[in-house]
Amino acid sequence: MTTAVRPRSATLRFSHAVLAVAVIHQLLVSEWMAKPWKLADATAVQVTLFELHEWVGLTLAVLLGGLLFALARRYRSGVFGHFLPWLHRAGRKALAGELGPIVKAAKRLRPPTAAQTQVLAAAVQGIGLLTLLFFAVTGIAMSLMEDKLDLMHRIGSIHELGALPLKLYLLGHAGMALIHEWRGEGLVRQMLVPRQA
Ligand code: HEM
Ligand code: HEM
Repeated sequence: MTTAVRPRSATLRFSHAVLAVAVIHQLLVSEWMAKPWKLADATAVQVTLFELHEWVGLTLAVLLGGLLFALARRYRSGVFGHFLPWLHRAGRKALAGELGPIVKAAKRLRPPTAAQTQVLAAAVQGIGLLTLLFFAVTGIAMSLMEDKLDLMHRIGSIHELGALPLKLYLLGHAGMALIHEWRGEGLVRQMLVPRQA
């Protein structure tokens, strides 16, 4: 699918690591923070949590830009084909080819190895990137609309539609990464340590 992939750069590893922590922060803080259109009912702590959500969210949008830039440099012209394999015939064929080993592994009640699900993993990562892009765009739009609370509220109802996909993504992507790490496949180390594939 991808030719001549470059090693992961420091920008890629750094932006991915900070972004992963920041996303978990956003999910947790959003449970307790104040809504700007309901400030009358909110405590000072809830208002501070909202401000934290907003500033971490805006920083996260910049980090996402850094991650996308680093991924474009790593995969060059193959970047769209790599992360959106269902959009082209070769990608769909490769995805279908991975189904067999996945079904076999499921029958043995053992998760497949990372090498058996490379295309599926990239497809899932593509969905994660699109979900974060959605949060970043709607979050920035809300930040710009703070003096038009009605409009901000409407964008907020769109923003929150990303919550379920984001939770499912983290469960699948981070969950599988940790399972592979536990089995000694070393993917988390590869993402953190320089000069790895
Ligand atoms: C990429 C960055 C961001 C991420 C990942 C993110 C994530 C989230 C999540 C997971 C929720 C909870 C949704 C739910 O459970 O219903 C949420 C809600 C919210 N976020 Fe963000 N957010 C980001 C950026 C921002 C920014 C920059 C703002 C600026 C104002 C913002 C304002 C809000 C508001 C007001 C809500 C409440 C929405 C509602 O209840 O209608 N977010 N965000
Ligand atoms: C929403 C947050 C996240 C996004 C958008 C994201 C995105 C990505 C992307 C695009 C890649 C591919 C990098 C490449 O091809 O060079 C990747 C790889 C990876 N991510 Fe994440 N990630 C997130 C959170 C996490 C978390 C919380 C973990 C914690 C364990 C994690 C662990 C990994 C690992 C181990 C890899 C390497 C996988 C491989 O080599 O096949 N990610 N991530």
